[in-house]
Amino acid sequence: MNEAFVTRAQETLAKDTSTVPEFWQNKYRTEAAKNWDKFYNRNATNFFKDRHWTDREFEELRPGHTFSEQKPVLLEIGCGVGNFIWPVLKSNPDLKIFACDFSPRAVRYVQANENYSEDRCYAFVCDITKDRLADTIPPHSVDIVSAIFVFSALPPEKQAAAVANIVEILKPGGRILFRDYGMYDLAQLRFKSGHKLEDNLYVRQDGTLSYYFSTHRLQELFVEHGGLLELENDYTIKRLVNAKKNIDSERIFVQAKFQAPIDTEPIDLAFAGTRIADTSLTDQKPNTDMDTC
Ligand SMILES: C[S@@+](CC[C@H](N)C(=O)[O-])C[C@H]1O[C@@H](n2cnc3c(N)ncnc32)[C@H](O)[C@@H]1O
Repeated sequence: MNEAFVTRAQETLAKDTSTVPEFWQNKYRTEAAKNWDKFYNRNATNFFKDRHWTDREFEELRPGHTFSEQKPVLLEIGCGVGNFIWPVLKSNPDLKIFACDFSPRAVRYVQANENYSEDRCYAFVCDITKDRLADTIPPHSVDIVSAIFVFSALPPEKQAAAVANIVEILKPGGRILFRDYGMYDLAQLRFKSGHKLEDNLYVRQDGTLSYYFSTHRLQELFVEHGGLLELENDYTIKRLVNAKKNIDSERIFVQAKFQAPIDTEPIDLAFAGTRIADTSLTDQKPNTDMDTC
C-alpha cells in the first residue's frame, strides 16, 4: 500500500476516538446469528451477486486441479444464500460441496435453490465459532475450505476458535482459500463515529459486524494459532470507477491461502465458545451500509 495513502487513512481513523458502549457491544457480539438471519429476512437472495471471479483467483477451484485420486471435497463456511457455491458447482463438475451458515434462513435458501442437489452439495446450519464441524463432516476429510467475506463477520475474540474448528476437518495438505475486507478499505474509512467497537471492528446499521484485516492478523490466526503453512497472504486493491455516480475509489481486500501440513497432527481445539443468548434485537434499522463486496 502506498505510504501517503496509509498515513491519510491512519489520520482518518485516529479521529474516531469513541467506541460503542459495553452493553451494546455485548449485544452485537452475542446476537450475530440473529442479526444475519434478519438480514436474509429483509434481503432474501437479492443482496450479493454470484461470485464468478473465484476460479480466476484460486486455481484450486478449477476442474482438473487434483488433491488426491478421490474427487475433491470443499467446505464453504458462511455460505449465505450460495453466491460462492453456484458458479463453482457449475464450472467444476468434480467438486462435492459442504456449505454452512449460522443463519437458518440462509441455509434454507441454499437448500431451495434449483442448483442444489444432495449428490453434490450438502448445506447445514453451523456457527463456526462454537459448533463443531467435525460433528457433521469427518475429521481431516476436506480438501478446500473457502472463507469468502465470512471472517470479517466474526468478532476477533472468536476468530481463533473458528480456525481451530476448520483445521480439524482439513485433510493433510488441504487448503483454506481466504478473501475478506482489508485494513483501510473504503468501507472502514466511511464509518461515522459511534460504530466502532474496537480497532478494526465496526457495527453496521443492521447490527452485523465488520472486521478489517491486516495480513499480519491473518498470519497470527492461521499460522501461529492454526499451525498452517502460508502459501499466499497479501492485499488486493481494486479500483472502482463509476462516472455516472462520480465514484472513483479503491477497495482493499486481503486474499490468502493456507495449507495444512502433510503430516498434520490435530491441534488443541480452542472450543471455549460462548453460547448465543436467545434475546431479540429491538429497533432494527434497514440495512444501508452493508457492502456488496
Ligand atoms: C458477507 S456474507 C458472505 C456469504 C458467502 N460467503 C458469499 O461469498 O457470498 C457472510 C456470511 O457469513 C455468515 N456468518 C457470519 N458469522 C458466522 C458464523 N459464526 N458461523 C457461520 N456463518 C457465519 C453470515 O450469516 C453470512 O451469510
